[in-house]
Amino acid sequence: MNHSFADKKLTRRNFLATAGTAVALPTILPLSVFGRDNRPAPSGRIVMGVVGCGGMGNGNTDAFLGKKECQVVAACDVDKNHLRDMVNKVNGRYKNQDCKGYSDLSQLMARTDIDAVMLALPDHWHALAAVEAANHGKDIYGEKPLARTIVEQQSIVRAVQKNKRIWQTGSWQRSQSNFHKAAEIVRNGLIGKIKRVEVGLPDGPFDHPELNKPMPGTTPPPELDYDRWIGPSTLLPYIEQRTHYQWRWNYNTGGGQLLDWIGHHCDIAHWGMDCDRSGPLEIEGRGEFPPKDAVWNSCTKYRIELKYPNDIEMTIGGGQPDIQGGAKWIGTDGWVRVDRGVFESSKAEWRDYNELPEELRKVKLYKSTDHHQNFLDCVKSRQPTVTPAETAHHSAIPGHLGLISMLVGRKLKWDSSRERIIGDPEASKLMGRDYRAPWKLA
Ligand SMILES: NC(=O)c1ccc[n+]([C@@H]2O[C@H](COP(=O)([O-])OP(=O)(O)OC[C@H]3O[C@@H](n4cnc5c(N)ncnc54)[C@H](O)[C@@H]3O)[C@@H](O)[C@H]2O)c1
Repeated sequence: MNHSFADKKLTRRNFLATAGTAVALPTILPLSVFGRDNRPAPSGRIVMGVVGCGGMGNGNTDAFLGKKECQVVAACDVDKNHLRDMVNKVNGRYKNQDCKGYSDLSQLMARTDIDAVMLALPDHWHALAAVEAANHGKDIYGEKPLARTIVEQQSIVRAVQKNKRIWQTGSWQRSQSNFHKAAEIVRNGLIGKIKRVEVGLPDGPFDHPELNKPMPGTTPPPELDYDRWIGPSTLLPYIEQRTHYQWRWNYNTGGGQLLDWIGHHCDIAHWGMDCDRSGPLEIEGRGEFPPKDAVWNSCTKYRIELKYPNDIEMTIGGGQPDIQGGAKWIGTDGWVRVDRGVFESSKAEWRDYNELPEELRKVKLYKSTDHHQNFLDCVKSRQPTVTPAETAHHSAIPGHLGLISMLVGRKLKWDSSRERIIGDPEASKLMGRDYRAPWKLA
């Protein structure tokens, strides 16, 4: 069950080679079978299924449909309209009818011809889907944050490691040159010893104050299997503004702006701090929350103060005037701030570098220039991607702990190597969530 893509391809090639001696190939096969349209022949392609056909699922699938080394053969969604549109898109792109649609992701995962899956599900489904995929021997492109809770994240990391799967997280900023350059400048000591790190994330949402209050439920639309959509979370009455895309503003399914963005800018901050396998020692969060029973109940403004080893202090802020967006490292000899389309630094010459001059690059960070391509390359090579599951796990932990600290109203102490909150049973309990039957986290 746990053969790698390379093992499976060998088997398929051997089969084709053997079959070819005994049986004449049918003449109706398209030219692409022989790889003549600049694509590897089907036996050499990574066969993919896509799960979650909403906003990001479409974005990721568009990227994979543009890659010659893979072939999307299956799609899954619990919304019939989203599924129909995705199947039509894939079949339209390949000019065939081969992409099959599923409403139950377990059926897609059970297909032995599928090598890899793309998961773009609401956060409360990340762990169940990822663990099932890993246990079925699939390599996984999975979205950030790694999962809705720390316990769920741990289960993903375990399943990926146990099954020796390739994992790429959707933290695509690591494949962008300005983020790479900024992290390399910091890792190579150009700003001196790091003293302080600022991670600026969005605040809000504030555009619908009526949703920061409770609202009566309505009937789900016929195209949506709402029971399966809610899955392991509490079966709250259906409200449209709590489902597609907007699920992130309710703690039953998402983690608000803080956890929506932690896997981007804290991921980059950690890259520069060399914290891909470690984390903070102390975490203290304060936030402004709508009422618990509001449609959107996630915190709208927040400030988390963290202490890291080596006397490094970090602030993660949303809606804090003194914290700018992106990741900023401040050291004894200078500073760097990076965000989407932004690179600022204490030294003007750093801004002009396309990348660090070779003589300054004693530490060379992983270089990827195309996040989806990096995943496919690693599926073939069996080498780690630029954002493996363990990295995404540690990148999101400061956000999870910040939220827990806000909820219990006190400072937390964290044992990064054992991944435990020290001496606080109430806070420790919030590292996981109860699952609604029949769903169980392996
Ligand atoms: N990397 C990025 O830049 C980026 C950007 C946006 C979103 N994301 C991440 O992508 C993920 C999806 O976010 P989105 O904005 O696309 O959400 P979305 O609500 O638009 O899409 C989620 C889709 O999953 C489907 N779904 C829900 N439960 C399912 C199940 N059990 N089986 C099959 N399908 C199911 C929904 O019907 C919906 O079509 C989230 O983790 C989010 O954080 C990443």
